[in-house]
Amino acid sequence: MPSTPEVSDQQRQIEDELVQKVRAAFDHTPDPRLKELMQALVLHLHAFIRDVRLTEAEWQQAIDFLTAVGHITTERRQEFVLLSDVLGTSMQTVNVNYEATAEATEATVLGPFFVEGSPEIPLGGDMADGVPGEPCWVEGRVTDMDGNPVPGARLEVWEADEDGMYDVQYDHGQLAGRAHLFTDGQGRYTFWGLTPTPYPIPQDGPVGRLLEHTTRSPMRASHLHFKATAPGLRTLITHIFVEGDDLLDSDSVFGVKESLVKRFERQPVNTATPDGRDLTGRTWSRVRFDIVLPKTS
Ligand code: BEZ
Ligand code: FE
Repeated sequence: MPSTPEVSDQQRQIEDELVQKVRAAFDHTPDPRLKELMQALVLHLHAFIRDVRLTEAEWQQAIDFLTAVGHITTERRQEFVLLSDVLGTSMQTVNVNYEATAEATEATVLGPFFVEGSPEIPLGGDMADGVPGEPCWVEGRVTDMDGNPVPGARLEVWEADEDGMYDVQYDHGQLAGRAHLFTDGQGRYTFWGLTPTPYPIPQDGPVGRLLEHTTRSPMRASHLHFKATAPGLRTLITHIFVEGDDLLDSDSVFGVKESLVKRFERQPVNTATPDGRDLTGRTWSRVRFDIVLPKTS
């Protein structure tokens, strides 16, 4: 943590006065929440500038960097969110908004690759139809905090292919490697997906250059995304990670939580599948992920 460097009393007073003046400029903000946010932001931004004794050249570099982040951002490319992700501020916002309880399934970052309009698949269906990768049988149950099954819960699932690419990163314009399905009367679900593989976050923009300059890896730990919704229960956005993955401790967006690390059991070639699917000559894996949703508050 930086410690405020020693400055003269006169200098400290000049800097303190400016902070107070800027905070006071927001005193008459009609919306009390906006007022709170802006005044806290001023406090923390000024503390940062003073702690690190920001130079004018560094200030200019920061402006140039944010300008570049803005220039590359489009409808399809959100570099500001990516910046928030690599700074851990997306994950911290998730933490603040999904207070941990011993029972409820933990949340993690949404990421930029969720899109509306995924196809519906039946229970046991294949969300990865035609997408290259090792098949993975995924099963679990959705319950509330009292252990009651949640029938009809909607599960959105999406993941990258074996080359670490999401459908929306290709030019083909087709949805693939994503689907939604509904739990049965006992809250159970099953589907075929792919054994997750690691992939880098987009590196061809200013955020990629920031990672390069700071010798940080762009790699995300292997994962499979879930969004679970059910009436009266809190929506959960999360992913599951692969036990034993080397990247669990260095996920570039800080999304890994221990409770979300699952055992993907690799099945040798010619092991019979749970639903009789013919995977002759291929390996496959299976994983269980039970989801517990708290009530909406
Ligand atoms: C993802 O998991 O899809 C993701 C999350 C944050 C940044 C980039 C990708
Ligand atoms: Fe992802």
